[in-house]
Amino acid sequence: MVVHVNAATSVDGKLASRRREQLAISGPDDFARVERVRAANDAVMVGVGTVLADDPSLTVDDAGLVGEREERGAPPQPTRVVADSNARTPPDARVLDGAAPTIVLVASDAPAERVAAIEAAGATVVSVGDERVALPAAFGELAERGLVDVMVEGGGELIFSLFDAGLVDELSVYVGNTVVGGRDAPTLADGEGFVENYPDLDLTDVERIDDGVLLRYDC
Ligand SMILES: NC(=O)c1ccc[n+]([C@@H]2O[C@H](COP(=O)([O-])OP(=O)(O)OC[C@H]3O[C@@H](n4cnc5c(N)ncnc54)[C@H](OP(=O)(O)O)[C@@H]3O)[C@@H](O)[C@H]2O)c1
Repeated sequence: MVVHVNAATSVDGKLASRRREQLAISGPDDFARVERVRAANDAVMVGVGTVLADDPSLTVDDAGLVGEREERGAPPQPTRVVADSNARTPPDARVLDGAAPTIVLVASDAPAERVAAIEAAGATVVSVGDERVALPAAFGELAERGLVDVMVEGGGELIFSLFDAGLVDELSVYVGNTVVGGRDAPTLADGEGFVENYPDLDLTDVERIDDGVLLRYDC
């Protein structure tokens, strides 16, 4: 299992503004890079906060990259995975549009009618954890389904939980050329935050892309 977190931040580390609306931080070359990373993975995962804020499709749109996946015997699209303890993913969300397989990870307390609505929209619902999605168990379930290379695209709550659980193998952060500010704006890692035992990352590469810089770490 390899978990690769990829996100774009402003210079001051924000994922989005305090309105939590999607922000164009990357330029065209970085968008293309993200698409290549998606295409290289078995699954692409987000927290439900990102689904509610951005309504992303999480698909590979480049026909050439889809073709390359098929040539190596992979399904045309990576599986989309949403960490959604309470089954809050709206049935009309783009991740449930049928363009790629989707797994919604819920907790056992998730309301049955919302779980049923997500299943009716075509997703596979997997229950892991009592009140909140238990991430180690979730990755175990994904691995059992053959999903071993997982790209995580955010947001800050999910990314913090992954670091907290020691589950991040690689981190790529594209730092764009803007300042967002705002004490309530989401950052790369939110959650409770660390006060000790801060993750010690190993910087493996620095690359200028568009008007920003891509930082790569082993974790
Ligand atoms: N710039 C970028 O690269 C980028 C990428 C993605 C998102 N974003 C931005 O980030 C913001 C959304 O981030 P976010 O932090 O609010 O949401 P998020 O991390 O996408 O989702 C957080 C939610 O996931 C659910 N979850 C389930 N299991 C979890 C677990 N074990 N640990 C943590 N969360 C778990 C929780 O809701 P339940 O308790 O209901 O399960 C939690 O509230 C938006 O503004 C979006 O635009 C930016």
